[in-house]
Amino acid sequence: MPRLNENYLNVQDSYLFAEIARRVKSYEEGHPDKAGDVIRLGIGDVTRPLTKTALDSLHEAVDMQADSGTFKGYGPEQGYGFAREAVADYYRRNGVTVDADDVFISDGAKSDTGNITELFAKDNVILVPDPVYPVYVDTNTMDGKQIIYMNGTEDNDFLPMPDPSVKADIIYLCSPNNPTGACYNKEQLQAWVDYALKNEAVILFDSAYEAFISEPGLPRSIYAVKGAKKCAVEFCSLSKTAGFTGTRFSYTVVPKELVFTASDGQRMSLRDMWNRRQSTKFNGTPYIIQYAAAAVLSEDGMKECMENISYYMENARMIAETLRRKGISFTGGVNSPYIWFKCPKDMESWEFFDYLLEKAQVVGTPGAGFGVNGKNHFRLTSFGTHEKTKEAMERFEKLF
Ligand code: MLT
Repeated sequence: MPRLNENYLNVQDSYLFAEIARRVKSYEEGHPDKAGDVIRLGIGDVTRPLTKTALDSLHEAVDMQADSGTFKGYGPEQGYGFAREAVADYYRRNGVTVDADDVFISDGAKSDTGNITELFAKDNVILVPDPVYPVYVDTNTMDGKQIIYMNGTEDNDFLPMPDPSVKADIIYLCSPNNPTGACYNKEQLQAWVDYALKNEAVILFDSAYEAFISEPGLPRSIYAVKGAKKCAVEFCSLSKTAGFTGTRFSYTVVPKELVFTASDGQRMSLRDMWNRRQSTKFNGTPYIIQYAAAAVLSEDGMKECMENISYYMENARMIAETLRRKGISFTGGVNSPYIWFKCPKDMESWEFFDYLLEKAQVVGTPGAGFGVNGKNHFRLTSFGTHEKTKEAMERFEKLF
């Protein structure tokens, strides 16, 4: 009989967004007359189609696969050189130098943030903010690792800072944050990098929402901060930036400077380990996707993406204005597609989820799904259409 990984007994029965989908489906089945009215502002899934650059290059790459002269079979597991260069160039245009050799192409930041846990021994102390993107918690729980939490609350604007009395080995940070939309400034990130360097810790930095930063001076990468290459891995993706949630392209930067001492004194490079892991367990992102992603990451390609991002941020403004009119306190919506607010009427977040679905047919994400500090909070995404977002906010306004 196989002995199973019993750490799975310690994770929630279902992943947060799977649970939400299950509840919405059950509501729709129970209320067929209302099913057509449901507006989904829960999971952060985009609604705008791919840009012209993405589509033209996808078509082009498909045609290449039809010709024996340009056909591609297996590619490099780490990604094609042109895609890694395109990522490095995108960083350069945002004022950050990243070596293309340190860039790894993948199919999603969710996969990479989950898979990287394999490189770290079980006895590491993992520090995660609460509220937090549940993937960091679930994947470490599945590995049986010890997690400690730092509180993100209204008192610290949902931006927890290092506590010198806490000794962590691996720190997860996400900025702009999912779910709260809060964004660290340069000094705050510098404090985290200094803490990590002092404690010989690694920061796993999720910058999936960097393209949504609109306030000048806020860092779009942890590498905008001094010393970060010696202590940080960065994950990013085109899911939200370019509407690739269904197309799948991400990149992870593992700087060659990340070298640590093993118990026998050997020096081990995190980049070499990740490279070894990926070349054994991953056959690479499809050529046609990498080809399109490289075009999207170009200056012209990115201009079109920014038009879509402005469209979504208009929704964020609509949501924020409604909350302001109702006197409901919130964060996010300025440098982030997410708006995080206190549930009205002192409701708990799952109670509020059911109430909003039942009374207004609007789906959001209960804060409790992101940790105990989210118990009385709720997240709405701005990735809907203008029409649906407006309608959802009108229903919200009527309800309160
Ligand atoms: C979210 O809604 O939090 C995320 O977009 C879902 C994901 O990326 O896995």
